[in-house]
Amino acid sequence: MKKIVVFTSGGDSPGMNACIRAVVRTALYHKMEVMAITHGYEGMINDEFTHLNQKSVANIIQRGGTILKTARSARFRTLEGMLKAKENIEKYGIEGAVVIGGDGSFTGALEFSKICSIPFVGCPGTIDNDLIGTDFTIGYDTAINTVIDAVDKIRDTAESHDRVFIVEVMGRDAGLIALRSGIGAGAEAIMIPESKNDLENLLKRLEKGRKDKASKIIIVAEGDESGGAYNVSKIVKERFPAYDVRVSILGHIQRGGSPSCMERVNASRMGYSAVEALIAGQKNVMVGIVDKEICYTPFEKAIKHIDELNPDLLKMMEILAL
Ligand code: F6P
Repeated sequence: MKKIVVFTSGGDSPGMNACIRAVVRTALYHKMEVMAITHGYEGMINDEFTHLNQKSVANIIQRGGTILKTARSARFRTLEGMLKAKENIEKYGIEGAVVIGGDGSFTGALEFSKICSIPFVGCPGTIDNDLIGTDFTIGYDTAINTVIDAVDKIRDTAESHDRVFIVEVMGRDAGLIALRSGIGAGAEAIMIPESKNDLENLLKRLEKGRKDKASKIIIVAEGDESGGAYNVSKIVKERFPAYDVRVSILGHIQRGGSPSCMERVNASRMGYSAVEALIAGQKNVMVGIVDKEICYTPFEKAIKHIDELNPDLLKMMEILAL
């Protein structure tokens, strides 16, 4: 393989730059030509291809976001869009691609492979950690540390005012950010899409819980069936008029910031291994790290959402929050 391309796609996540850097430098080490596409699949259609060298990726390992920019492309879901993208891939003589993104990005690669034969290898770039085949996606560790940093601050003011805070975190389809950051921040309750009857359970827990607790933190994943933090707060206020309830929606701060050390190391290993996989002839697989070891999972499997969370973690959280 003589020429590859790298791009980021879908929601950005801290650590994507470290991964891009690893892909570029590994490919150059193997004497390959490396191109980049800006704005993901949208840029593939719009012919946003550029050449990269060692220097193009200097001084980026510590930066959040993605230097290659990213997008969610509706046009790439059409045959017309994919044919245009194929034309550009062929124009530049691209022989392999590394896509850094989440489930939508890998689904796009799978669809594209029906009309374009170049191999794609994926690196899991999403703060949601909702891909099968890796313990941690690129961005998750930094995002959960951002959340606990914010919740620690909220706890200070909650405790001073004897307040209940409903904190909404990201996770449209997955509660892994809420679960891990909730445990790390010592939340009183966690509400996630994977567990049902969260609202009922929350009300029961508030009813039976210790009355001498000055503050309470409830973490709600944005995709929880309860309808989000404002809805939860309304219901809690109605049921417990004595509670002084406030809402805090953390939003996109969870997607930004300098990646943690673990993130940089994982992203570097994955980017490096993605190029090694292309050289070894792998196709349509996602690189991941499971039990500290690099592994490869077919895209079809990686994109299946994790619906079952470790029940022990949920139980432990409830016991520790008593
Ligand atoms: O990156 C994943 C994610 O953070 C989801 O948890 C969230 O729902 C979504 O992206 C929001 O992304 P955007 O604002 O870019 O549409």
